[in-house]
Amino acid sequence: MGYRVVVAGATGNVGREMLNILAERQFPVDELAALASRRSLGTEVSFGDQTLTTKDLDTFDFTGWDIALFAIGSDATKKYAPIAAKAGCVVIDNSSLYRYDPDVPLIVPEVNADAIEGYAKKNIIANPNCSTAQMVVALKPLHDRAKIKRVVVSTYQSVSGAGKEGMDELWDQTKAVYNPTSDIEVKKFQKQIAFNVIPHIDSFMDDGSTKEEWKMVAETKKIVDPSIKVTATCVRVPVFVGHSESINIETEDFLDEDEARDILREAPGVMVIDKREDGGYVTPIECVGDFATFISRLRQDSTIDNGLNFWCVSDNLRKGAALNAVQIAEVLGQRVLKKG
Ligand SMILES: NC(=O)c1ccc[n+]([C@@H]2O[C@H](COP(=O)([O-])OP(=O)(O)OC[C@H]3O[C@@H](n4cnc5c(N)ncnc54)[C@H](OP(=O)(O)O)[C@@H]3O)[C@@H](O)[C@H]2O)c1
Repeated sequence: MGYRVVVAGATGNVGREMLNILAERQFPVDELAALASRRSLGTEVSFGDQTLTTKDLDTFDFTGWDIALFAIGSDATKKYAPIAAKAGCVVIDNSSLYRYDPDVPLIVPEVNADAIEGYAKKNIIANPNCSTAQMVVALKPLHDRAKIKRVVVSTYQSVSGAGKEGMDELWDQTKAVYNPTSDIEVKKFQKQIAFNVIPHIDSFMDDGSTKEEWKMVAETKKIVDPSIKVTATCVRVPVFVGHSESINIETEDFLDEDEARDILREAPGVMVIDKREDGGYVTPIECVGDFATFISRLRQDSTIDNGLNFWCVSDNLRKGAALNAVQIAEVLGQRVLKKG
């Protein structure tokens, strides 16, 4: 016996990837409902070798459904997640709405799967921001060995992190650059993204940081350890899929780069590709469609006593969203619902 699973946002970047991953990982699905807004009523989406027709989330009855994977943005989540949760369906949400709620666990299964026990307070589990998810997978095993005191991270985030409209904008602007009769239209991003980089993701905060940067700080503390200090600079780059991060950590105990590489090689969800030669590292284009968080360019930071630098790349639609959500569903199934 398997689960009755809902994917809300099935026409979006993350929702489509959720359907792919549920099928790829052979999640025990008895029945699957693909939901989106009324705008895309009847749109066909793929689930393994099946084609599903999307239904309207607004009129959907969640009664009798076990798990709902939500990828519909905070506004719609605010309206529909409580309805699903109240009907007895456990919501695993990709928006930022519930991430900082003390009554909602924020989970990256490789790091804090035990937090699943807290799901019952609201019947909701939150999935972290894409940049946080891949970073904490790498930080956790290093923290366990040498206790991380401080993290300095700069991100290189792909346009798919801004949804399907973000991908369309990079595509349209790139075509317009080569067509002198077309204007370059800026809609989703704050400035031209094609052949450019933008040091601004989400809204500005009072202290000059952005909300995206604040999310990396707050979420790392909630998922790994509240004592870790994080400072982040989040940058949008003209890459379709795959987020990259340059990470510097300072640890309490000395950690040699070779030992750190060995620890990461053994760590769940991590793949180390780190040859000190031309091309001996992973770039975002190579991680698309993969489950792993890739680590390269690992080296000692010689400017401090206990420091390391490394490069961290992952498919933001997978580990940063859909894969992590499905992994949470797997933990929920194995430890709590126990049907599959
Ligand atoms: N992309 C990432 O890397 C990433 C990572 C982590 C978290 N997230 C989060 O995941 C969520 C979805 O992101 P995305 O990149 O998949 O966005 P997207 O490509 O723009 O897709 C949005 C999806 O939400 C649906 N939707 C929007 N408003 C709705 C409403 N009122 N009622 C029903 N359905 C509605 C859309 O349906 P229609 O097609 O019918 O409009 C579409 O299926 C967001 O909360 C985002 O912050 C994204």
